[in-house]
Amino acid sequence: MTSYTELWVEKSDFRKTRVVTDQLRAIEEGEIVVAIDKFGLTANNVTYAVMGDAIGYWKFYPAPDNWGKVTVWGCANVVESRCEDVEIGERLYGFFPMSSHAILQPGKIRNDNFRDIAPHRTELPGSALYSNYRRTQREPELVQQFENERCLLFPLMATGYVLYDYLVDNDCFGAKQIIIGSVSSKTGFSLATLLHDDPSVSAKVIGLTSPGNTGFVEALGCCDQIVIYGHESSIDPGLPAAYIDMAGDAKLTQTLHNHLGDNMVESAMVGASHWEDGGPMGELPGAKPNLFFAPAQIAKRDKEWGPGEMSMKAMQATMKIAEKAKSHMQIEWVLGAEAVEHSWHNLLDNKVPGSTGIMASLLSQPE
Ligand SMILES: NC(=O)c1ccc[n+]([C@@H]2O[C@H](COP(=O)([O-])OP(=O)(O)OC[C@H]3O[C@@H](n4cnc5c(N)ncnc54)[C@H](OP(=O)(O)O)[C@@H]3O)[C@@H](O)[C@H]2O)c1
Repeated sequence: MTSYTELWVEKSDFRKTRVVTDQLRAIEEGEIVVAIDKFGLTANNVTYAVMGDAIGYWKFYPAPDNWGKVTVWGCANVVESRCEDVEIGERLYGFFPMSSHAILQPGKIRNDNFRDIAPHRTELPGSALYSNYRRTQREPELVQQFENERCLLFPLMATGYVLYDYLVDNDCFGAKQIIIGSVSSKTGFSLATLLHDDPSVSAKVIGLTSPGNTGFVEALGCCDQIVIYGHESSIDPGLPAAYIDMAGDAKLTQTLHNHLGDNMVESAMVGASHWEDGGPMGELPGAKPNLFFAPAQIAKRDKEWGPGEMSMKAMQATMKIAEKAKSHMQIEWVLGAEAVEHSWHNLLDNKVPGSTGIMASLLSQPE
């Protein structure tokens, strides 16, 4: 029998956590067991908890009572298999719980990927993205070399790429300035970098951040103007602006809309890194804030460019941005339940600077 270790989070109070160790149930015909040896941990995972009920992230790996298993992007080895097309020893990349092990039910098995077709997943959103597992040994060797980047940076930088593409696809909605909330986040600075480095984008890139992350953003050189929270009045209200919001801070959104008025021509809610500062925003001047859902833009491009093409472009963009940013970033490895639990609390309490990337594992030893 396989023992597992998981970190559970209470759905109504993310600071209440519980380390659970137990024996995995025996798998049934068609199922596999994976040992998850690494996953990335960032503000995005806090957002998965914040949106756990609204979008359904809690339902991917259900937990009893009011507990939830926060989802993460990671790599795993297949350690048991009752699925004849997926063998022990295969390496996977995909959407896992904060756990040492998980049970998957592969279906729609292709050469380099499969879907988890477990019945509880059929109605979940974005299944083409979240239920898709890459069989990485069948991918180009170059991609296999970037496993850590893939766990920690790809889901975020790829979103940065999708946001960039969304803006370019819409001629930046006529904006002459693009304001990025929480620009020190990996999603935020990747969007800023792509816009800033594209000579065909004439809009000014303005990054909003906190004093402690300003040095990091300056070093990245991805913004034309850096604005510290509280100094939004330094943004020119006379120019049309698009607000791409990774912070999810309701008061900040109100301040920006009130400052720009009808010149706020686009307002996209992408994330909630300031997860405790959300709330109702009421009627605001300018464009109505709309929830940005990356899978929708990916689906549009899959139709226009062919399936997988956008993902490939996003991967190439990730590698370029990661290469550019790496000398300004530190990767911190956290191993074991206590350390991962501590890092989860640090993320909640804004104690992880933008320049740090956390790679985690709950597996006691590699399998
Ligand atoms: N909709 C989508 O498809 C999608 C996809 C990817 C990411 N996102 C969202 O984008 C946001 C950024 O994600 P990420 O993983 O790139 O973040 P990250 O790199 O971990 O972001 C770190 C930055 O977020 C801010 N921050 C982090 N924790 C905080 C806290 N507890 N309180 C206040 N500020 C905090 C700080 O930035 P500042 O000081 O600069 O504010 C910090 O430097 C998340 O909300 C994520 O969900 C959305």
